[in-house]
Amino acid sequence: MITLAAASQKGGVAKTTTNLAIGAKLAEDGARVLYIDLDPQMNLSNTLKASTAGVPSSLDVLTGEATIVEAAQVIDNYAVVPASRLNGKADDLMPSVGKDYRLRKALEAVADDYDYAILDTPPALGTLTVNALTAASWVVIPAQADAYSLDGVTDLAATIQAIREYTNPDLQIAGILLTRYNPRTSISKIIREDAEAMADEIGTRVFKAWIREATVVKEAQAVKQPLFEYAPSSKVAYDYRFFIDELLEEVNG
Ligand SMILES: Nc1ncnc2c1ncn2[C@@H]1O[C@H](COP(=O)(O)OP(=O)(O)OP(=O)(O)O)[C@@H](O)[C@H]1O
Ligand SMILES: [Mg+2]
Repeated sequence: MITLAAASQKGGVAKTTTNLAIGAKLAEDGARVLYIDLDPQMNLSNTLKASTAGVPSSLDVLTGEATIVEAAQVIDNYAVVPASRLNGKADDLMPSVGKDYRLRKALEAVADDYDYAILDTPPALGTLTVNALTAASWVVIPAQADAYSLDGVTDLAATIQAIREYTNPDLQIAGILLTRYNPRTSISKIIREDAEAMADEIGTRVFKAWIREATVVKEAQAVKQPLFEYAPSSKVAYDYRFFIDELLEEVNG
């Protein structure tokens, strides 16, 4: 099983949108996909049509009250462990022993059942994101194409450094993905150059693929359909396909 997370402590940079797209494309291609939503906002769970009331959640998995097998809901061609609103309290609710490793350990038990696990995290660098990065083999850093969003990349890079040192030496950065990007604006060129300089600094690269701003992304989420089903021939679906091919080439060597 390959474990991937598009993560950043910056809000609204398309973490969830990117995780949804990666999982949808993989499942469409026949892979066994398990999504884990760790974010108390539950955006991923809701978009994937998961039940979130009165069911075991990722918080229960972290606290040891449920296994992934018990919490995973099979919907269409994927499985999802939903988040709960209480995920925001994970730090207080989780037992302190082995806190950072709880998701990793839970995923080990289902390593033969899925080809990919995709982890969606909240826009913060707390316990939930540490658990995700400790469990992940690869992290994608989405950055919305504006200057402040790139600031977030440096903070995440520092966290990744610490994760590698203390909890997951094998964590690899797949690359920085420019999202909601408009190549026609003059700022976009500057942003790409800045992102490339930053990527050099942290030993990764900027994906050749970039994701344009497009209303169909929001529409697909509103009707709870994968982008590739809702608007299969849209330019932004093409952007995501191109990105995912580039990502998988790297991940699968
Ligand atoms: N390429 C795009 N074009 C237009 N809208 C987009 C695009 N990508 C994402 N969005 C929209 O931007 C908003 C933020 O995206 P998303 O929820 O994926 O970000 P996030 O990083 O997961 O946010 P959070 O930090 O709150 O979890 C959403 O409303 C989403 O529909
Ligand atoms: Mg999100």
